[in-house]
Amino acid sequence: MKIAIVGAAGRMGQKLIELAKGTDLEVVSKVDVAEGFDRTWSDDVEGVIDFSYHAGVPAAITKAAEQGIAYVIGTTGLTDEEQKAVDAAATKIPVVQSGNYSLGVNLLLELVQKAATVLGPEYDIEVTEMHHRHKKDAPSGTALMLARAAHAGRKFSCAATPATEAECFVFGRQGDIGERPQGEIAIHALRGGSVVGDHTVMFAGDLERVEITHKAQDRAAFAAGALKALSWAKGRPSGIYTMRHVLGFV
Ligand SMILES: NC(=O)c1ccc[n+]([C@@H]2O[C@H](COP(=O)([O-])OP(=O)(O)OC[C@H]3O[C@@H](n4cnc5c(N)ncnc54)[C@H](O)[C@@H]3O)[C@@H](O)[C@H]2O)c1
Repeated sequence: MKIAIVGAAGRMGQKLIELAKGTDLEVVSKVDVAEGFDRTWSDDVEGVIDFSYHAGVPAAITKAAEQGIAYVIGTTGLTDEEQKAVDAAATKIPVVQSGNYSLGVNLLLELVQKAATVLGPEYDIEVTEMHHRHKKDAPSGTALMLARAAHAGRKFSCAATPATEAECFVFGRQGDIGERPQGEIAIHALRGGSVVGDHTVMFAGDLERVEITHKAQDRAAFAAGALKALSWAKGRPSGIYTMRHVLGFV
């Protein structure tokens, strides 16, 4: 299968190019805004993997939709408007979109959802993430996915009553914030050094705490999952899929 990597000059792009060697995915276009890279992909491309920058995603995925080729999005931090372009493209082509392509984090999502159901709103949920100093968006797409898994585990309620993400989620804290309301799900982003990606979901009860942690040691964990996702997506009906579909969890 002939493929294009969008964001080819970046940390993830380089890892994807390296890992694709020796697979049946042949990188024929290396797309990036950086000097010396292709500005777009060639006509023979059959699928695209995008780990670039959110602002460029709408134009690239719209082109893929016009061509009818599969698209895997790793890029995070999309605005609501940019996400609409992704959703529109997914009516025409198979799109896999995940904030994290590693096997471990996708297992973590299952565990967090289960823990939130079992422990209930009496256990306060705090999500922390740490990434290298170059990461541009916050919180990470993975932290948001983990918070959403916890929210789903609580049957989409903050405490007992149904409530939206916007009503339950808090991003960091500062100042005279008062007591922590029951059912809040808080998300905190740390930045520094060369950390590839650490995530912890803490369930803090009165008598005990449960912490579920994932630490990525190498970007290859994400790159391998994204390559697998593109092979899986090729030839599927149009629609938006996640890594959970690729791994057979749903
Ligand atoms: N989903 C996952 O599993 C996962 C894992 C790691 C990183 N990410 C995300 O992937 C993205 C890239 O991460 P990175 O660490 O490789 O970043 P990076 O900054 O090292 O690389 C991004 C590359 O995209 C290029 N770029 C910017 N705008 C572009 C455009 N319009 N068209 C083509 N190329 C463009 C940049 O020049 C750069 O080379 C980020 O959004 C990051 O959060 C996702």
